[in-house]
Amino acid sequence: MNHHPIGIFDSGIGGTSVWKEIAAMMPLEDTLYLADSRNAPYGERTGDEIIALSVKNTEWLLSKQCKIIVVACNTATTNAIAYLRDHYPLPFIGIEPAIKPAALHSQTGTVGVLATKGTLASRLFSTTSKNHASHIRIVEQEGAGLVSLIESGRMDSVETRELLKKYLLPMLDANMDHLVLGCTHFPYLMPLLREFLPDHIKIIDCGEAVARQTFKLVRDSEQLSDQGRPGRHTFFTNADPGVLNDILDSLPGIKEVSYLDF
Ligand code: DGL
Repeated sequence: MNHHPIGIFDSGIGGTSVWKEIAAMMPLEDTLYLADSRNAPYGERTGDEIIALSVKNTEWLLSKQCKIIVVACNTATTNAIAYLRDHYPLPFIGIEPAIKPAALHSQTGTVGVLATKGTLASRLFSTTSKNHASHIRIVEQEGAGLVSLIESGRMDSVETRELLKKYLLPMLDANMDHLVLGCTHFPYLMPLLREFLPDHIKIIDCGEAVARQTFKLVRDSEQLSDQGRPGRHTFFTNADPGVLNDILDSLPGIKEVSYLDF
């Protein structure tokens, strides 16, 4: 048994789409979430910058004695998780675009991936594509501008709608039947995506799969917590907490959000 919290970080609020699955699957666990919104979007940064920011986030979560760290950011996972695993003794769980299940189930042989520039340019993404999806066509689309819009709470603005339509068009033209969300911010675009995409197109978000993996890891290493009360969820952000508060208000559980000069 280990009563220390599960640490989670993202470049901002997007990782809450993973946090909510973890909190639902592991209701007795305390969680500590770090939103590095001041430095978002990570996807526009170099690999070295993403590693440096991921190290800073990890060090902070370690100082709070987290028992494991979930890197709830595709960009940080694809660019920095190997470094983190090499340099820190605790387990890391990451998230990367779920190309494998999409490639496995595609009938049209075309899969769309909407992700950040940093994710699409990463070595991990190209290795995963080569290993698991070489038999299908992947239409990669960088979601430039979307993370910043979501960070400022504009999940359904004129600008968001226009960008999204523009990004989806080449994938639709190529006859994709699966759209992989390769950024943890993008599940917050689900209402728009469902509005713009025909019903037969499956949208893949692997937040739940990451939660399942987290649960297994904590259980198998005998680190589950049971303090005889529901888990406590503490969030820290280094930007205006307004949007984070709004998102969390719509999700179940008791949470506390604080500003951190980080
Ligand atoms: N949530 C991050 C991801 O999954 C967004 C990256 C960014 O800040 O550009 O990639």
